[in-house]
Amino acid sequence: MIGAAAVSVPGKTILFGEHAAVYGHPALVTALDHRMTVTVTASSPGNGAIHLDMPGCGAARSFAPDEAARIAAYRTAVWARAFADGDGSSFRPVDIPGELAVLATLTSCVGLSAARRDVHVRVESAIPTGSGFGSSAALAVGVTAACHLAFGRSLPVDDIAEAALRIERHQHGSPSGVDVQAVLRGGVLWCRREPLGLAHEEVGAAAGRLGAFRLFHSGSPAESTGEMVAAVRRLRDEDPARVEGAFAAIEAAAREGRAALLSGDDAALVAIVRRAEAALEALDVVHSDVRAAIRAIEAEGGAAKISGAGGRSGAGAGLVLVVHPDPGWHRRFAPPAGWIAHGVGLGAQGLREEIAA
Ligand code: PMV
Repeated sequence: MIGAAAVSVPGKTILFGEHAAVYGHPALVTALDHRMTVTVTASSPGNGAIHLDMPGCGAARSFAPDEAARIAAYRTAVWARAFADGDGSSFRPVDIPGELAVLATLTSCVGLSAARRDVHVRVESAIPTGSGFGSSAALAVGVTAACHLAFGRSLPVDDIAEAALRIERHQHGSPSGVDVQAVLRGGVLWCRREPLGLAHEEVGAAAGRLGAFRLFHSGSPAESTGEMVAAVRRLRDEDPARVEGAFAAIEAAAREGRAALLSGDDAALVAIVRRAEAALEALDVVHSDVRAAIRAIEAEGGAAKISGAGGRSGAGAGLVLVVHPDPGWHRRFAPPAGWIAHGVGLGAQGLREEIAA
């Protein structure tokens, strides 16, 4: 062994602003303290093979250098055909367990004299996948950071963000970058996509107020984030007034939500969350069962919204945030069938270097 490093990365939730963020509207995001740990060891002598061990998703296999390079070339071509030459409609996300980790490892190891070494990547994660909790962003950030550290380089945070975003797009198509920033920097961030990248501002003062939000996993959607973003893009082409109206409502909710968190006005959050959810439903990104469950919460004086891309079919719409003006209501609340309470802290620390085992 010639180098080893371990990092941990939190998950994330989008409090307000999903989907609209893709089109330059602001989003309020925060890191979740369920973490992914990525350990990378570089062993010598080797030939540049990648050995991947991801116990959580059953991906334990080795990739010879030419196989990893073929995957990267294929994925680069898929992305370029969809987004550099097209409108994104031909995009197909990575679909083999571990493929994103291989792309992240290969991309990170370019220029790190990895060709004469074998790279072992182990990913252990408490972050649910494919449900709005930030798992792919955490993977992209964690593998990028750990690979560089294992080869003796500490990459600046902005460079990690840029590299991770290039990786995440093989999963999400044309991500806004809010997921990557949230898991990388941690805390609470106000983000906005700009022509030259994603601007972010720390909203540290909001961190103490995040207990107003309770998290639930409503079940994994059948659709990927990339598919939901593409569905919204098609809807925008067909009915621009409806979609622009929804984006404006989402932005207004994000601004009011930030103000309510900063002033500690928990009661105001109920109406704001309801408006955000109504706008997301206008975008048709909320599974009908989840919509029904949210109506029942509203009937009891609370509010709930999906967080992330959502979904139309499958078991649910992924992560759902619930607020209620009466803290006692949360204790009495019996989650709808299929929902699982996700008791994890919000406002968590971002990327963190750990001791490699
Ligand atoms: O990865 P998810 O499911 O949390 O969704 C990301 C949020 C979107 O706004 C739908 C997409 C994006 O890139 O911002």
